[in-house]
Amino acid sequence: MVLKAALMCVAVAALLAYYCNEPVPQGIAEPRLFAKVNGIVFRTAQNLGRIGEYLGVGTEPQIIRSVVGALINIGLKLKGTSYREGLKCTDAMFDGVNVRVYEPTSPAQSGSKVPGLVYLHGGGWVILDVDTYDPLAAHIAKQLGAVVVSVDYRRAPEHLFPTAFDDSVAATKFFLQNAEKYNVDRTRIGISGDSAGGNLAAAVTLALAKEKGLPKFKTQALIYPVLQAINFTTPSYINHGHLNTLTKDKMVSFWLWYLNNDLSFQKVFEANNHTSVEIKKSQYAGYVDPEMVGVKKVKKGNLKFPDIPNIAAILDPRFAPLMADDADLKGLPPTYVMTCEYDVLRDDGVMYAKRLGKAGVKVNHDHYQHGFHGFLNMFHDYESAGTAMQNYLTYLKNNL
Ligand SMILES: *[C@@H]1O[C@H](CO)[C@@H](O)[C@H](O)[C@H]1NC(C)=O
Ligand SMILES: *[C@@H]1O[C@H](CO)[C@@H](O)[C@H](O)[C@H]1NC(C)=O
Repeated sequence: MVLKAALMCVAVAALLAYYCNEPVPQGIAEPRLFAKVNGIVFRTAQNLGRIGEYLGVGTEPQIIRSVVGALINIGLKLKGTSYREGLKCTDAMFDGVNVRVYEPTSPAQSGSKVPGLVYLHGGGWVILDVDTYDPLAAHIAKQLGAVVVSVDYRRAPEHLFPTAFDDSVAATKFFLQNAEKYNVDRTRIGISGDSAGGNLAAAVTLALAKEKGLPKFKTQALIYPVLQAINFTTPSYINHGHLNTLTKDKMVSFWLWYLNNDLSFQKVFEANNHTSVEIKKSQYAGYVDPEMVGVKKVKKGNLKFPDIPNIAAILDPRFAPLMADDADLKGLPPTYVMTCEYDVLRDDGVMYAKRLGKAGVKVNHDHYQHGFHGFLNMFHDYESAGTAMQNYLTYLKNNL
């Protein structure tokens, strides 16, 4: 009995030590504790996902979704919903897509129209939802005095690409066409999103730029966006791929869950073996590595792809916006990009900001030297995340 109890204690202590020994780089300054906690949460969720899948409890992505969702929801319950004061929050359906609409109840001058913002939440197209993003969307609506539409796009791997993209386009178009019903000035509508939501926001912006008869976006604001799946050995993937706030292997898994839900290609993708030599020397590789010499302009239709389900999507801007041709970037709305140093996706955002700038788009790029992936969601709890939120809102106030 005593021996059993002692063994249990040792096992629990070992587990605790294993989990609490979460490495956090020195450079992550003030939100250090949060980086640690965030890392522990994701590592735990990931391990439970793998064990659960092995035991037949569910699939890894479903378990990660449930564990992360449950933990965040506990935090939200403790917070209460007072942050919604001053807003009317309604669940609605825009062209068959679930959305949550946040409307300020006291517009600056009654009768005057307000700006609008479509918001696409992060979570690797797989986890998180409008509920977990409720405080963030409400905060943006309140601070901007704008109507915010948070889109509940259908997620992977139950719904593969292009479902999340199609849902985002449908809901956004509906909002653009029905702005007046929400007292929104149709000349002052923007789109924004973080991480996988930044991917969707950029993709929707590219797609709608080609559609006639719709109001134009006033701006797109991309927060540490995921933009390319052609090269997993950019310097940021190499330097920060081990950080549990978003590891390289998890990012690759998210891409695969969205692309084809076949994780047998995990190692192939991580090694950049999912592209042919021809693709590696094409303009598409050059979009990620601007220093690359001897880039050969190839036509997508003529390219041979490795034998991987859906693989051609990696060059499709609806899937990976950084793959858009220069001509498609010209004329896009003024763009805000936020990147963090401690993030495998840093270079995705940096490259897109550079390419947009070269294409003549007005770009505001905020880079956070101590920031890490996902930190903006903690804008209430950490000063540096609060500052990042403030800068983002200031940009939107001036450009929406
Ligand atoms: C990936 O991009 C980096 C620069 O960001 C470059 O050095 C490397 O050669 C690229 N790899 C491939 C396979 O394109
Ligand atoms: C990647 O391709 C190289 C060259 O073809 C090969 O040697 C290597 O084993 C491959 N690695 C993976 C993980 O597929």
